[in-house]
Amino acid sequence: MEKDSNSSSTNGKSAKESTETKKSPGKGCPEMETNKDMNTFITLDSGFKIPTIGLGTVFTADEDAEAAVEAALTIGYRHIDTAFMYQSEKAIGKVLKRWLDAGKITRDEIFVTSKLPFHGGQPEAVEPFLKRSLENLQLDYLDLYLIHFPVSFRYQDVDSFCTDTVPTDHIALWKAMEEQVKAGRTKNIGLSNFNTRQLDNVMAVAVIKPVVLQVEMHVNFQQRTLHEYCKNNNIVLVAYAPLGSPGLLKIQSEATGTPAPDSSGEDSSSGDSPVPPEDPNAVKLPALMKDGIVLKVAQKHKKTPAQILLRYLIEKHVCVIPKSSNPERLKENFLALTFNLDINDMAALSLLDDGTNPRILNLLNFFPQFEEHPEYPF
Ligand SMILES: NC(=O)c1ccc[n+]([C@@H]2O[C@H](COP(=O)([O-])OP(=O)(O)OC[C@H]3O[C@@H](n4cnc5c(N)ncnc54)[C@H](OP(=O)(O)O)[C@@H]3O)[C@@H](O)[C@H]2O)c1
Repeated sequence: MEKDSNSSSTNGKSAKESTETKKSPGKGCPEMETNKDMNTFITLDSGFKIPTIGLGTVFTADEDAEAAVEAALTIGYRHIDTAFMYQSEKAIGKVLKRWLDAGKITRDEIFVTSKLPFHGGQPEAVEPFLKRSLENLQLDYLDLYLIHFPVSFRYQDVDSFCTDTVPTDHIALWKAMEEQVKAGRTKNIGLSNFNTRQLDNVMAVAVIKPVVLQVEMHVNFQQRTLHEYCKNNNIVLVAYAPLGSPGLLKIQSEATGTPAPDSSGEDSSSGDSPVPPEDPNAVKLPALMKDGIVLKVAQKHKKTPAQILLRYLIEKHVCVIPKSSNPERLKENFLALTFNLDINDMAALSLLDDGTNPRILNLLNFFPQFEEHPEYPF
């Protein structure tokens, strides 16, 4: 994604402006002429522009990832969020290459993020992992490279996955990240899942500042402290699980080999598993798309609950990266760029913040050994 000569940190073309020129009414799930020109952007502290909506890419099958990226690019998405850990980079790379080779997009029209995995949390691992991500994605550079988590497993080599935890030296790691910008392998660097203390430590030594913090954020978990911190330090927040991650239980059950209860009540891909007896430790997903206030605001604007959840964050100048394998939902989510919420809607939705750290994505369900790690952030 190109660098903005005017590096002020404001949105680019207004959503309203885009809607008026591009929207055409349809039936059922909004059928319309979607288009890359509908994208809005936030200008990063470095001057580069990040599209406000990106495609999340935690997919369970390569075919799903490929189909979703193809559909998303067709709809107009120009921001793709991936990570070495998601194992979706190769599938994404195939589609990007097709589009680039066919001249349907140019490299500077897309914004691609990837992340340094847990088993790459040592300075010497940064370059090999970033090089592997570039190879998987068939790209010469990334737009953004994030440290995925502030905790780490021992690095052996890019093809080995060792699950012994080791201390993480964030300062040394950040210096290795800065080297990647200097080497031209990524335009920007940032952090994911870091807390304010850890952010402070990195900010204190950074010559190249982190321009993005990616964290779990949704209407139920509004991350007020981190959001304030980011505003004060010109860091753009990117919200993962912006819809409340209704498919998480399925992903978790596949990763851990345990049955997936459907505790969310959502209409999601997790709903077709048999419901086992109640487990007191089971993850309880908030049914954000069924919340009464969300439904009321959706009805008022004639939008879907998912669009309201995304728009709420976009109005707060937060980027969103919803994942979907379904082309109609991909389109529906993209259309969150095309309307505005008013001050009353924002006030009502603001009250949905739980205030008690209602985190959905619990890394300890996948890797319980991180609980003892000195840099476990939550
Ligand atoms: N940095 C990190 O540590 C971190 C952690 C987690 C995730 N992430 C990133 O954030 C992305 C998004 O997070 P997420 O996937 O956990 O949660 P999410 O985007 O909140 O939710 C995705 C789920 O919602 C469903 N969905 C999507 N659009 C919908 C709609 N319009 N109506 C109803 N259901 C809809 C999807 O199902 P269908 O596919 O069936 O539509 C999928 O099951 C990930 O893919 C990944 O790129 C980053």
